[in-house]
Amino acid sequence: MRIQKEKTILAIETSCDETAIAIVKCSHAAHTISVRVLSSLVASQAKLHAKFGGVVPNLARREHQKNLIPLLRQALNAAGVKKSKTKNQNAKSKLKIQKLNEILARETNLLEKFKRYIVPLEIPPIDALAVTSGPGLSPALWVGVNFSRALSSLWDVPLIPVNHMEGHLFSALLQIPIQRSKSATSISAQISNSEFKIQNIKTPALALLVSGGHTELVLMEKFGKYKIIGETLDDAAGEAFDKVARILGLGYPGGPAIAKEAQSVKRRAQNNNAKLKIKLPRPMINSGDYNFSFSGLKTATLYLVRDLENAGHSIEKLRPVIAREFQDAAIEILVKKTVRAMKEYKAKTLLLGGGVAANTRLRKKMQEAVRENLSHVLCLISHVALAGDNALMVALAACLTGKAKPWQKVAADPNARLSD
Ligand code: KG4
Ligand code: ZN
Repeated sequence: MRIQKEKTILAIETSCDETAIAIVKCSHAAHTISVRVLSSLVASQAKLHAKFGGVVPNLARREHQKNLIPLLRQALNAAGVKKSKTKNQNAKSKLKIQKLNEILARETNLLEKFKRYIVPLEIPPIDALAVTSGPGLSPALWVGVNFSRALSSLWDVPLIPVNHMEGHLFSALLQIPIQRSKSATSISAQISNSEFKIQNIKTPALALLVSGGHTELVLMEKFGKYKIIGETLDDAAGEAFDKVARILGLGYPGGPAIAKEAQSVKRRAQNNNAKLKIKLPRPMINSGDYNFSFSGLKTATLYLVRDLENAGHSIEKLRPVIAREFQDAAIEILVKKTVRAMKEYKAKTLLLGGGVAANTRLRKKMQEAVRENLSHVLCLISHVALAGDNALMVALAACLTGKAKPWQKVAADPNARLSD
């Protein structure tokens, strides 16, 4: 782990439909890394995209442009940074403003507000900026990248590009002792202003990363060295949850909607429906490799719904059972392949992260499978509040393995991969 004694990082995440900013102080003492979260804010656009049944890239871009400045001001405020009382010569120099005009030339919605609200601020006491550079949606990524380049140029602070999937992977290392029963807002309030330890892990470690854009099994032979040993050949797991939710007439994002619907299955209804043979395939579950295919499972669900409707059944009544069967199928595939890979690679630690890792049943099934088959393995699962996109995970990755670059060399890379 490349971390000096103490480092304060301001991280920005805009790879998909969450605008997020975090300010984090990482410190290293006696082989223990602690993370003090000064602030961690997420502005979700989910409701806006729900109308379209999925994320619309240019709409996401526009919303990031709208959200970044208020979010940054709020984060700096929480961390105690104020407006400069003395005239900030540095920030006001003609050259600096000219550079801002260039860097934010394609973010015109941001530029004027940036000059008005950010330029007059004191330079915050941070050692580095971090930004998700990829993978993600190109228009969305570029807003965060250009915004962080502008801040790096204005404040003369180094910029660390972060791989989004590495963020998801490291989010599992932050063990947060907060009960699930608390509300989401109270959890995020507790995460801000708190200090957490980073779990020490043994390598080789294996990470199952399951999000809306990716599904991959990543081998970490040594800390910070990655190899993707398997990935989806078509849809990501989260994408399949979203698409099946649409088939079933549930809202977006589909993951939480399917999970809720599946939970509502009544035992009696399940027995009655056993006669109907509501059974879906588990594509590629026994393939010799570690790849996945979720598109077939989605299509099978579509055909199942169509056949049931044609036979005169009410989908409304059967929806919970279908959602449950789809969820069980997806989880069975994920868990079985992960356990097999853990055995083959003799992994000592299992990390589970990404939006789908918020799924209660997946968390339970993975923990059970580890207990039954891999009793020597440490299984770390991202806290529900950190499974989805956030900037705290970006700050973590920057602290643990990040390398700063001159801002001119930081660019969005929508297809960035963890290995190679
Ligand atoms: O990691 P994430 O927030 O964004 C990406 O990087 O893609 O993941 C979002 C995905 C969505 O597809 C959403 O439906 C899924 O995570 N998701 C879930 C649950 N909560 C979110 N999937 C299954 N069960 C959940 N409880
Ligand atoms: Zn993500």
